[in-house]
Amino acid sequence: MDLITSTHLYIAGGIVLLYATLLRFTVGGKSSKDEPNQIPHWIPVIGHAFRFALNKREFFLWADRINAKKPFTVLLGGRKHYIFSDPADCAAIHKNGKSLHIRGFVRFIYLYIWGFLPEDADRMWEIKQEWHRIDLDWLLDPAKNRVITQTYLRHLEGQFKDLDNALEQSEKGVLRQAGLKTVVDLQGKATGATLWGETTMKLNPGLMDDLTVMVRDGFWPLLFNAPRWMFPKPYAARQRLHEAFADMITNIDDRPDMSVYVQERTRYLTSQGMSAQCQGADNLRTMFASLLNSMPTGYLALVHILTEPGLVDDVRAELENAGWADAVAASADSRDDALEPLIAIIPDKLPLMRSIWYETLRIHNNSLTVREVIAPTELSGKSGRTWRLEKGGVVSIPCGLMHYNEKLHPDPDGFHPGRFMEKTLGGEGESASRTLKPFGGGSTHCPGRVFAEKQMIGLVAGMIWRYDMTIVNKKQKIPKVGEFDNLAKQPAIWLDVRTRDLAA
Ligand code: HEM
Repeated sequence: MDLITSTHLYIAGGIVLLYATLLRFTVGGKSSKDEPNQIPHWIPVIGHAFRFALNKREFFLWADRINAKKPFTVLLGGRKHYIFSDPADCAAIHKNGKSLHIRGFVRFIYLYIWGFLPEDADRMWEIKQEWHRIDLDWLLDPAKNRVITQTYLRHLEGQFKDLDNALEQSEKGVLRQAGLKTVVDLQGKATGATLWGETTMKLNPGLMDDLTVMVRDGFWPLLFNAPRWMFPKPYAARQRLHEAFADMITNIDDRPDMSVYVQERTRYLTSQGMSAQCQGADNLRTMFASLLNSMPTGYLALVHILTEPGLVDDVRAELENAGWADAVAASADSRDDALEPLIAIIPDKLPLMRSIWYETLRIHNNSLTVREVIAPTELSGKSGRTWRLEKGGVVSIPCGLMHYNEKLHPDPDGFHPGRFMEKTLGGEGESASRTLKPFGGGSTHCPGRVFAEKQMIGLVAGMIWRYDMTIVNKKQKIPKVGEFDNLAKQPAIWLDVRTRDLAA
């Protein structure tokens, strides 16, 4: 007689199914009817953590779909995460700096990603008010922002000249280059020279490569504090970045080409007793902030322009009408105001480029604003509904959810170059300020948002104007997620770059 019959198997299967079904509806659950709906999960404690880590963008879009696009709750590694994407709810979250706090999250990132010592991370938090003021001042005050933009455009011109020379020396006047690497070399190095000075860039020619290795090979291992021996390369790359910046801090008097912004920050932090090592980590934080969203946006905007039929011609026509050729010619002068004509054009006279900038951010940006619920919180957006959030939970705004909401952005999967251009100019008239959230908000609202637009337009407009570029591997899909670590792991999109005959 068989010991295990098919009846046994059916009974066992039934029990497993019953357990799983109970688990699905009992694990977690809502603590009150006003808490956002919980997305069911199968694995206790861990919840949806694996799915989130695998592809957080797809995970959030899926959960949003099954919850009919209302706020929802997911369990990630033992914590409830409340997910919001309605513009009014997001505004209410950003306004609430009292019971929704970023401190815990910031500390975590300071320690594990940028490698601060715990005591330095705490001290940096205590003195944030003043160094944050310096960030805001230099990045948002129009006159100071102009200084940074001017320096950036000069350095960018220098990078373009290097590429021109390389093209001149190439055998057939063409260079085959990986798209992302090209942007890192142009935009990344020009930004580096702007903030930390040419001397620092020359002394550390591997700075951008170290950033790439650290982020591509190490972002998640570093975040989870994986042992160094398992991931020696990204840890070593981070160490070299710390040392390069610490050396700059120690020798600040011999680096007059550093931006006054970073100098002012350095002098303040030094006056507060922050060591060169701590400031090495702090400059790594500035490096992350100023490049890891900007370079992907520049790269993806460029690839879209090269891919959409007729768009290169439209962008060139816009640049021509705005007087780009004369402005670039004028910028060759070494006088301080030589860049004024170019600055007057970027971005105000380039509505199509502006729209492309926003559309690229909409499609690809994956930023996640995170706040910790440090006291029971009632949250009321304009929808009239009040949500109750439990202490200990985490509030997240994945901007991709708002950016893919078809009520705000019809045909969300399609790249529409003129989506954010006024209708009177032939665009679709969507409002970027109301429906896009790539820069977060509230107390940590990205201070680099104004410079970032100029950084990207300076790069992309400059490239489209100066070079004829074709994508070699046209079948290679444009990656959806614009996070640097993800992009750097994707197969390269190769460009054939030639000098454009401007006289033709
Ligand atoms: C496409 C370009 C950029 C995007 C999408 C972006 C996005 C963001 C986001 C989402 C945050 C966090 C906001 C939050 O927590 O709510 C942030 C913070 C920050 N960003 Fe940007 N950023 C960009 C470019 C820049 C640039 C070019 C700079 C500097 C030159 C910069 C400097 C900063 C700084 C310093 C912070 C930290 C603010 C704080 O801790 O209070 N960002 N950025």
